[in-house]
Amino acid sequence: MRIAARMGTIGTESAFEVSARARALEAEGRSIVYLQIGEPDFDTPANVRAAAKAALDAGATHYPPFAGIPTLREAIAADASARKGFPVEPYQVFVTVGGKGVMLYAILGLVDPGDEVLVPDPGYPIYESLTRFVGATPVPIPIRMSNDFRLDVDELASLITPRTRLLVINSPANPTGGVLTRGDLERIAELSIRHDLWVLADEIYGRILYDGAEHVSIASLPGMAERTIVLDGFSKTFAMTGWRMGYAIVPESLVQTYGQLIINTISGVATFAQVGAVEALVGPQDDVDAMVVEFKARRDLIVDGLNAIPGIECRRPLGAFYVFPSIAGTGLSGGELADRLLHEAGVCVLPGSAFGGLGDDHIRISYANSQANLTEALGRIRAFVEPLVAARV
Ligand SMILES: Cc1ncc(COP(=O)(O)O)c(C=O)c1O
Repeated sequence: MRIAARMGTIGTESAFEVSARARALEAEGRSIVYLQIGEPDFDTPANVRAAAKAALDAGATHYPPFAGIPTLREAIAADASARKGFPVEPYQVFVTVGGKGVMLYAILGLVDPGDEVLVPDPGYPIYESLTRFVGATPVPIPIRMSNDFRLDVDELASLITPRTRLLVINSPANPTGGVLTRGDLERIAELSIRHDLWVLADEIYGRILYDGAEHVSIASLPGMAERTIVLDGFSKTFAMTGWRMGYAIVPESLVQTYGQLIINTISGVATFAQVGAVEALVGPQDDVDAMVVEFKARRDLIVDGLNAIPGIECRRPLGAFYVFPSIAGTGLSGGELADRLLHEAGVCVLPGSAFGGLGDDHIRISYANSQANLTEALGRIRAFVEPLVAARV
């Protein structure tokens, strides 16, 4: 029996596979510090959990309306209108299984075989994977450390062809923590309008910002709301990864498309989980604020610690909870270093190459872990890397 040929085109997200490998080592008795997965280590806020539990007991166990329960669509529209700087109506909101659902429907709904999709490199690997899966071509947009991990808009302009259908941007970004400025976004908007492109704006880390960095949604810029799909969700902001709750904000022209795709795939997202998500948005926001304060302390701990290790150079990112240091000075590739750190030092990180061809000389570290664990990991990395670099000189 055979499987479909298209399965030969689909990629993966190596965080899940590397995690399994690390857990197998731990089961053999090894001590591992986990810095590979993009998941807050905090619990979902208590008021959110309580709301979902009460909803279960009150009978919220039936199919939801496919686009989401009205109270959640209203809460998302109000929250997005306030935070993202453009008016959002509830009918434009679609609740999906994780932010990933938004991505899947954008690519299924907008991209034909033979089209080109501009994706950040390094970038979240699923953009590229899904693009290939639908028979289209991912075109990497180089994202360089020397530019503080912001894309170069002139370079982006040079990559646009008559086949370009969709531009994916992600700010704050996984895996680099890079944040696009308002000026960058204005120039990207101008290009998108000139070339009549759809834009998928992945804003899932939009509330995890430091040092006064501003979150600008490209959809708030003139002429952009009608060509932008905003991807956002609850996983990162509210420590709700396991709830699998995300949402799309789409222009009127895509309302039918998103509805049809949801009906054909998931029929909607767990009803009681949606009630919890309403509480996440309309309830007190102190837990979110406290998480961001703690992430910032962790960012500084990891950046300072890495920069004190010879052979490693790390920028101080303005958003998300990742660093993407260059490890070129160690003499190893990111793949070799990640592998050896796991097996020889008990620290689980991802190779930069898991995020695109330009990530080869990097590793990605998620600092969504306690300061004690980060300190332990830094000690282990230093003990492994220092002799390696000393032997080179
Ligand atoms: C940039 C980016 N977009 C989307 C997602 C998917 O989020 P979710 O877990 O809500 O599907 C992730 C998860 O790591 C991410 O890093």
